[in-house]
Amino acid sequence: MEESYILITGGAGYIGSHVNRLLNSKGFRTLVFDNFVTGHRRFVQWGQLVHGDLRDSAQVEELFNRYPIGSVMHFAAFAYVGESMASPAKYYRNNLLSTINLLDAMVRHGVDGLVFSSSCATYGQSTEIPIKEDHPQQPLNPYGQSKLMDEVIIKDYCRAYGLNAVALRYFNAAGAGIDAVIGEWHEPEPHLIPIVLDVALGKRQYVDIYGDDYSSPDGTCIRDYIHVQDIAEAHLKALLHLDKVKGWEVFNLGNGNGYSVRQVIAAAERVSGRAIASRVCERRPGDPVCLVGSSAKAREVLGWKPGFAEIDTIVETAWRWQTRLNELLKKPL
Ligand SMILES: NC(=O)c1ccc[n+]([C@@H]2O[C@H](COP(=O)([O-])OP(=O)(O)OC[C@H]3O[C@@H](n4cnc5c(N)ncnc54)[C@H](O)[C@@H]3O)[C@@H](O)[C@H]2O)c1
Repeated sequence: MEESYILITGGAGYIGSHVNRLLNSKGFRTLVFDNFVTGHRRFVQWGQLVHGDLRDSAQVEELFNRYPIGSVMHFAAFAYVGESMASPAKYYRNNLLSTINLLDAMVRHGVDGLVFSSSCATYGQSTEIPIKEDHPQQPLNPYGQSKLMDEVIIKDYCRAYGLNAVALRYFNAAGAGIDAVIGEWHEPEPHLIPIVLDVALGKRQYVDIYGDDYSSPDGTCIRDYIHVQDIAEAHLKALLHLDKVKGWEVFNLGNGNGYSVRQVIAAAERVSGRAIASRVCERRPGDPVCLVGSSAKAREVLGWKPGFAEIDTIVETAWRWQTRLNELLKKPL
């Protein structure tokens, strides 16, 4: 029988492209399906690429008819918290419809293994730190809601149709491959580290700090930054774990270290050797004060351990990528 593919939806995006690269380096055969709404063709340098949209069930069906698919990694989604507050319909339509179309095709074609990109945004305000997988899930924004709804839908499909799924709830993905071949590139960029580095590169004047009167030591929000390469390694482990999963299993992927907005800015100043201007703005609706995860379960069950613990080493990889991207963007792509 022809060797089957690992389908990677959203494999032209930030995290999916790092996972695609890692799987190919380990000898897996991958099939990237992406509509390039936020992803980039130049990030798909490994495996097979199909341009298409998961919201179109006919395209998804054709994909499954055409390629032998063994299991699925589902990254494709809209993932900007702030935008989801302003445009919830956009988020529910893409993130839910895409997942349902994908699951339906999996059921029809007897593909039963799924690794799903979930998020710490499903927890909402934390009642205990570090956050464990059984922490209550009360999202504060439509993006987090859509990811929680996806989890519920996937769980129901597992129960009713015999799928086996691992959901990985990542905290804040950050950094880039150490050779800076791929990295984070969103337009507009919603994530803190690339924004801070853009100020260091002179592409922005300030970093906007959304509130400095939170109940944290320096008043700014605290997040757990997990390196994209560590997330990729966890996906490989989750894929290999799928045959032990009976139905549904969930793992947090975080570092266990929380850094405030001001600490991230200070790290970027150390790494870049440049001063980074900031200004304090109103709090943003939908932002919890502190999100720091416990990855004890992933460590114990998957045997996964983040390799990048310190914020400076994470920012260093992002800086290397972003200076390269800055040069690339000056030339026609
Ligand atoms: N970046 C983070 O910090 C973070 C944290 C937690 C969870 N996640 C989740 O991880 C996943 C990947 O995030 P990312 O930061 O790499 O985002 P990204 O925007 O870089 O990648 C998403 C990819 O999905 C594609 N896509 C979106 N809708 C599609 C559709 N309908 N059909 C086909 N392709 C589609 C985009 O073109 C893009 O390539 C998302 O599901 C996100 O919710 C991200």
